[in-house]
Amino acid sequence: MRSLTDQVIIVTGASSGIGEAAARRLARGGAKVVISARRPDRLDALAQAIDPSGANVLAVAGDVTSAADREKLVAATRQKFGRIDGLVNNAGYGTRGPVEMVSVDLIRKNYETNVFSLIALTQLVLPEMRARGRGGIVNIGSVAGKIARPLSSIYDSTKHALEALTDGLRGELKPFGVRVTLIRPGFILTEFVEAANAASVGIIENAGPYEPFYKGYSSNTATMRRIAGGPDDIARLVERALTADNPAPRYSGPLHAKIFLLLKWLLPDRALEFIVRLRK
Ligand SMILES: NC(=O)c1ccc[n+]([C@@H]2O[C@H](COP(=O)([O-])OP(=O)(O)OC[C@H]3O[C@@H](n4cnc5c(N)ncnc54)[C@H](OP(=O)(O)O)[C@@H]3O)[C@@H](O)[C@H]2O)c1
Repeated sequence: MRSLTDQVIIVTGASSGIGEAAARRLARGGAKVVISARRPDRLDALAQAIDPSGANVLAVAGDVTSAADREKLVAATRQKFGRIDGLVNNAGYGTRGPVEMVSVDLIRKNYETNVFSLIALTQLVLPEMRARGRGGIVNIGSVAGKIARPLSSIYDSTKHALEALTDGLRGELKPFGVRVTLIRPGFILTEFVEAANAASVGIIENAGPYEPFYKGYSSNTATMRRIAGGPDDIARLVERALTADNPAPRYSGPLHAKIFLLLKWLLPDRALEFIVRLRK
């Protein structure tokens, strides 16, 4: 086991949900955490809760899609703590809607946050990690990165992209001692659904011929809420990825996530499509 003590770890999307839980858990384990997201009030409250003295926590407000904000995040981390040992690429959101009805601009925006910004931030921390011969990158993917669903394929495709990206990076960085892990959460109770609804305003309401299917979508979401996990289920996996001597390439949780992934592996495509099909 690698100790978290004194590891300097950046967590993006730390103002709520999985990122917040990961920051709390890593800090409890002794890490110095750098928390980032767009809402400064949330970050300040979290920083205060983690370490009122401020010695072991740094809040840097910013938008991951802004190059200047990404540079500020990395520079502020180095200035306060002198190095970066870990990066948890967690910031992300979902866009809902039938592919036919979602503007390419909104699709680009979702990719910008979930994929391109993650790559760009990773590029900023890698030279130092490579030179030091150690470091950990944890990308938050999703079960949706293996199983794409109708009316969610924009978001799901961003998470599919992270599967390939994380696997490729892992191979590239292994010779340099930098460990790269993908985490695939299942359905977790956070602000994710609210954020996805907000990002999809105007699409769901004007989905034309697809509209009747949204009722089925909502009842699926209600069913999933009953088996959903909590953010700490995933924070635990983030901690494991950063502390295991030999971290697995990917972790998934909670139990329903493992079951869905097993079904994806076992079932023929048509059977899986039957399970995730549109229902009125
Ligand atoms: N909840 C689930 O069921 C689930 C399942 C699988 C995967 N995931 C993944 O888990 C990650 C965390 O999601 P969550 O469930 O914890 O949802 P959440 O509660 O909505 O948290 C999302 C976080 O991302 C931040 N964020 C979004 N856009 C950003 C931007 N442009 N710049 C900086 N920060 C940004 C948000 O902060 P600000 O709004 O303050 O910027 C927030 O802190 C996401 O990558 C999501 O895709 C979630």
